Amino acid sequence: MTATSSPAVNQNTATAPAARAIPGLPADFRWGVATSAYQIEGATDTDGRTPSIWDTFCRVPGAVERGENGDTACEHYRRMPEDVAMIAGLGVDTYRFSVSWSRVQPHGSGPVNPAGIGFYDRLVDELLERGVTPWLTLYHWDLPQELEDAGGWPARDTAYRFADYAEATHAALGDRVRHWTTLNEPWCSAWLGYHTGEHAPGRKDFGDSMHAVHHLLLGHGLAAQRLREAGGADLELGITLNLGHSTPATDDPEDVRAARSADGMGSRLYLDPLVHGRYPEDVVAELGDRGVTLPVQDGDLETISAPLDVLGVNYYSAHQYSGTAEDGSTTDAEGRPVVRGVPHGRPRTAMGWEIVPEGLTRLLVRLEREYGVPTVITENGAAFDDELAEDGTVPDTDRVAYLDGHIRAVADARAEGADVRGYFAWSLMDNFEWAFGYQKRFGIVHVDYETQQRTVKDSGLWYRDTIRHTRGG
Ligand code: FCB
Repeated sequence: MTATSSPAVNQNTATAPAARAIPGLPADFRWGVATSAYQIEGATDTDGRTPSIWDTFCRVPGAVERGENGDTACEHYRRMPEDVAMIAGLGVDTYRFSVSWSRVQPHGSGPVNPAGIGFYDRLVDELLERGVTPWLTLYHWDLPQELEDAGGWPARDTAYRFADYAEATHAALGDRVRHWTTLNEPWCSAWLGYHTGEHAPGRKDFGDSMHAVHHLLLGHGLAAQRLREAGGADLELGITLNLGHSTPATDDPEDVRAARSADGMGSRLYLDPLVHGRYPEDVVAELGDRGVTLPVQDGDLETISAPLDVLGVNYYSAHQYSGTAEDGSTTDAEGRPVVRGVPHGRPRTAMGWEIVPEGLTRLLVRLEREYGVPTVITENGAAFDDELAEDGTVPDTDRVAYLDGHIRAVADARAEGADVRGYFAWSLMDNFEWAFGYQKRFGIVHVDYETQQRTVKDSGLWYRDTIRHTRGG
C-alpha cells in the first residue's frame, strides 16, 4: 500500500477496550495472523535462493527509507520453529504466509530447489503439529529477478512461469496444505511496481503496468487450473485483493464520477474479470483515452474467471473523492478528469492512513451484493510508533482500538448478510514494510531488530483473549 504524507496523530491516546467476546461471529469463524516471505525471512542468499526484484530494488539508492533491505529482516528463516510456537501461543487457528518463488525455483522456471522447498515443508509440518492451519500465498510481490530481466509481469510469458511454479509448489506441499492463495494484491504489483515505481521493480510506464494487470490475472487463472487439477475437491482456492471503500465526497456529479473512476481502477479492474469474466467497460474506455489496450487473447477471460472458493480482502482504510481540483478545475494538466482524494478528517495511523472501520462493513456488504464470493479478511491492521516500556510490555492501545473497531465492523457486515468467514491480523510481528523499511511497525508482536527478541504487544494479548472469549472459551 502507499502512504500519504500526513504525520501520525494517533499516539496511544485511546483507552484500550478490554478483551471480550465480539457478538455476531460464529464459533467456526477463522482467526489468523499474516506475514509474507520477503518481509520476515531474511537469509536471502541461503540454500540456493536467488535475488528477487525486491533484493535488487532495495539496492537502488533512495528506493527504500534509510537504504534498508530484507537481508536479515526478522531472521524467520532461522527462527521458524520458535515463531510457530509463538503463533500457536496467540491462540489463532490459521497462519497466512507466503512462499518465496526464488527459493523454490531459483531461476523462475525449471527444477525445484530441494533446500528451498524444504523450508516450507518444515514450516507446514511445524504448524500442523501445533494445530495451526497453513494458508499459503504463492506470490507476495517477490518475482525472481531473472523473470523480471526477461520482461517481468508486462510480458505474457511470466503468467505461464507462475502457473508452473504453482504446480511445483503444490506437488511438494499440497498433501498437507488445503488453502491456496495465488496472488497478494495484484494492484500493488502492477501499479506501484510498474507505474509509479514506488515498489519493485521500480519501473514507471503506465502502459506496462496495465499489461502487468492482465498478465497477473492470467497467471492467477492458469495457476488456478493447475491447482484444481492437482488438488481436487479438497482445495480451497482464492486470490487476495487490496480493497478500500471509495465514496464521493459530496453528491456533486463530478465527485460521483471521480469515486467511480477510483473504484474502477483500484477494485473493479480486478474483481470484474475474476468474478464476472469481463473487464469493466468504463475502465477499458478510460484506458483507451490514455492510449492503452489490455493485451487480452481468446480464452483469457474464461481462464481468469475460474470459480473462486474464497476472496481474500486486505483492508486498511477508506477513501473519499472529489472530481474538482482545489483551484476549481475538473481536468488536470494533462487534460484528464480530476480524481482527488479528500480526507474524512479521522485520526490516522503512522502510515498516514485514516482510520475508517465502517468502510470495511460497507465494502463487505457491497462485495456480497455485487460479487457473491465468500470472503476472508486476509489482512487488516495498523502501524503505530510502538515502544517497548521499561516493564517489558508494549502498551499499544491504539492498535487494540483499531483491531477492535475493525473486527466489530466485520461482525456488522455479517449481520447485514455478508458471508465473511475469517479475519487475519496484519501482522504477526513487526517486519520490513517495503519502501518504508523497518520504521513502520505493524506487528501484534514487537521485534527488537538488534537482538531479534520478540515481545507480544498488548494488542497481541488482547487478540488472543478476544479470540478465546468469542469462541466461547
Ligand atoms: C499490504 C501488504 C502487506 C503490508 C501491508 C501493510 O498492502 O500486502 O505486505 O505491507 O500492506
